[in-house]
Amino acid sequence: MGPMGGTDGGRRVARTPSGAGVAPIPVYDAIAGNYDATRGGEPRGDEFARVLARHLLPGDDPVLEVGVGTGVVALGLLRRGRRVLGVDVSSAMLERARGRLGAVVIQGDARRLPIVDASVAQAVSVWVVHAVRPAEALFGEVARVLRPGGRYLVCPTNRSPAADPIDPILFEMFDRAERVHPAWRQNPVSAGDICGWGEAAGFVARLETFESRTWLTTAAEESHRIRGRVWPGLQGLDERAFEAVTAPALAALAGLPGGPIARRAEVDLVVLDRPRH
Ligand SMILES: C[S@@+](CC[C@H](N)C(=O)[O-])C[C@H]1O[C@@H](n2cnc3c(N)ncnc32)[C@H](O)[C@@H]1O
Repeated sequence: MGPMGGTDGGRRVARTPSGAGVAPIPVYDAIAGNYDATRGGEPRGDEFARVLARHLLPGDDPVLEVGVGTGVVALGLLRRGRRVLGVDVSSAMLERARGRLGAVVIQGDARRLPIVDASVAQAVSVWVVHAVRPAEALFGEVARVLRPGGRYLVCPTNRSPAADPIDPILFEMFDRAERVHPAWRQNPVSAGDICGWGEAAGFVARLETFESRTWLTTAAEESHRIRGRVWPGLQGLDERAFEAVTAPALAALAGLPGGPIARRAEVDLVVLDRPRH
């Protein structure tokens, strides 16, 4: 079985407020240990890298990955002959990225990138925008560090097709989590939101959609992930709240058929071009 999905609670509904200047919740430090095993690992990173590489401009300059995480997407770009530079706020995620990519990753906040103006040819971010608030700060910073004529490729979290049996169970679980969680809030980000934030930062935006491959899971695997608190919205809940939030989801999963369940992820890619003048 090769899990490659994940919403991180960045669920797929309409416009979201971009939020106040909230410090990044250090949930990814807690999640780093099982991130690859529960988000598709290198095969999923390679799938994204394959599509990103098709939309990158030609050239030998390093590609900046903002929110590089454990480095699975960057690894796919490296394997396609691209040099990469990764930035992430989570030291535990970066430790894994460093093991995978070498000393090409630095710790930093996407809202204050530790990079000088107009020094980067191209940048990418996969499954990151929903985690950064306010999102405007991310797009403003990438616009600042990109050279004129540069490009920023952005993928929001996956959209699940209507017939997906797992998504509504997780969706309702995240709703319950949001109601009781002391800090975590869902932050749905659509491709349209990304186009809007990109254009406000001076980019010219274009939307591409690609369908990522199908993968198999089981109801038991999904239950295991919930018990392991692999989703950001389950981090930081006390035992009682965790039980209240997850029990209906675990019951619903127990009611699904026992065999493999095929899931399919629909993925958007927004191409943001920084004009030359
Ligand atoms: C869902 S993970 C995606 C990681 C990677 N892009 C991937 O596709 O596997 C989101 C990443 O964004 C990072 N992140 C969240 N807020 C950030 C911020 N303000 N600055 C830099 N990185 C941030 C997290 O630490 C985490 O590694």
